[in-house]
Amino acid sequence: MNTQTLLTGQTLTFSGNPFEIPWEDCIHINRTGAVLLDAGRIVIVGDAETLKTQHPQAKTISYGDDLICPGFVDAHTHYPQTAMIASWGKRLIDWLNTYTFPEEARFSDPEYAEAIATRYLDLTAANGTTTMASFATIHPHSVDALFGAAQKRGQCVVTGKTCMDRNAPDDLRDTAQSAYDDSKALIECWHGKGRAQYAITPRFSPTSTPEQMSALGALWAENPDCLMQTHLSEQTDEIEWVRSLYPQARDYLDTYEAHGLLGARGLYGHSIHLTPREIDRLAEVKGRVIHCPTSNTFIGSGALNLPALAARHIPLGLATDTGGGSSFSMLRTMAAAYEAAQHHGQALHAAQLIWLATAGSANALHLGHEIGSLTAGNYADIAVLDLKSTQAINQRANRSGSVWEDVFATLMMGDDRAIRATWIAGVAVHG
Ligand code: GUN
Ligand code: ZN
Repeated sequence: MNTQTLLTGQTLTFSGNPFEIPWEDCIHINRTGAVLLDAGRIVIVGDAETLKTQHPQAKTISYGDDLICPGFVDAHTHYPQTAMIASWGKRLIDWLNTYTFPEEARFSDPEYAEAIATRYLDLTAANGTTTMASFATIHPHSVDALFGAAQKRGQCVVTGKTCMDRNAPDDLRDTAQSAYDDSKALIECWHGKGRAQYAITPRFSPTSTPEQMSALGALWAENPDCLMQTHLSEQTDEIEWVRSLYPQARDYLDTYEAHGLLGARGLYGHSIHLTPREIDRLAEVKGRVIHCPTSNTFIGSGALNLPALAARHIPLGLATDTGGGSSFSMLRTMAAAYEAAQHHGQALHAAQLIWLATAGSANALHLGHEIGSLTAGNYADIAVLDLKSTQAINQRANRSGSVWEDVFATLMMGDDRAIRATWIAGVAVHG
C-alpha cells in the first residue's frame, strides 16, 4: 500500500542556531521545496521536482507558496487555564487566587478535565502547535486526560501533576509525600510510553514547602530523564514573597537548587528579573529559560531581555503560558517576543523568532532529535503557513521585496487564519 505523501511549497530548514551564528548561514527557505512523509516520519526534504521524479508513487499535496515549517512547540503552558484565558484586571498573585485556582479546582471532575484537554488540543492544532509542555492541575487524572487525548492523536506532549502543599486553597493542596507518590505513579504509567514525556512539576517556590521541594528533587534524581518544569522570577512582588518564605536562599533560583531542582532538564518559565548570579548559574548548568512574552505583558510582569540571555548561551524556549498568556497562537507569541526584545534595543530577525518557536523550544525540551525541524527521521509534525492570510498581511506582502519580509509580516500580524494545515505524525489534524 502506498503510504508516502509529498508536501510541496516553500520549505523552512535549519542547519544551526541563529542565536549562535548569523541567521543567513543556518536558516534556509527553498522557494520550490518539498517534504516526503512516510509512516508518520519525515523521509527527506528537498526540491519538489526532484522528489516528485524520485518518488512518483507518493501522493502529492501542493501548498503553492505557503511556508512549510516544523510544527510549533509551546514550551510552557497551562492547559487547565483554557476556559479562563483573558481574565481581567489582576496581577500574578491576585490573578492566581481570583481566576486560576477556582478554575483548576473544577478539574476534580475527570470528565471536565477530559473535555478541556480535548478542547485545548483542538485549539492548539488550529494554531499550528504540535507539541507543548503543559502544567496539569493537582489532580493526577488531569495528567491522564492530557496524555490520553494526545495519545489518540499520536501527539508528543510533556505534562505533569502540578504540586502545591501550601499557599493554595484546601482543595488544591497535596502533601510532600502524596506529591512524590502521585508523581512517581504517573511517571511509571506514562513517561516514555508512546510519545508521552513526564515533567515533574512543582508549581513555584511559594506554593511548595521546603519538604515538598526536597521530595520532588529526590524524585527527579531517581528519574533523571524526566523534565522538571516550574516558574522563576516572574514578578517583583513574587520575588519578595519568595525571599520571605526562604530566608536562607541566596535568590529565587537558589530555592530550587537547594532542593535538587536545578539542572539542564529543568524548564524555568518567565525568568524575567534574574540577578547576575542566577544568570551565571543557569548558564553553567544549561538550565532552560522559557520566554512567555504575551503573559509577561498581560499580567504586567515585565519584558525579558532575551538577547542578553542568548549571549550567555542559555538554552531558550518560547511559550504562550496560556491562560496567563493572552493567546493560543505561537505567531502572536513571536510578535510579542519581537516587541519585548525591542524594549531592550534589540531587533530579533524573523528567522530567529521562528527558530525559537520550533527548534529552540524543542531543544529546550531535549526533544530536538525528534521534533522542531524538518529533518529526515524526525516525526512529521508540521505547520503550513499561508503568508497572505488576511487583507492587511496580503497588501504588505505585495509590497515586500523578499520572502523573509513576507514571513515577518505573518509573524507580526498573523493568527490562526494563517494556519493552512497542521500535521501530527504524518496525519493532517487541521486544515
Ligand atoms: N506562577 C505560578 N503559577 C502560575 C501560573 O499558573 N501562571 C503564571 N503565569 N505564573 C504562575
Ligand atoms: Zn506558567
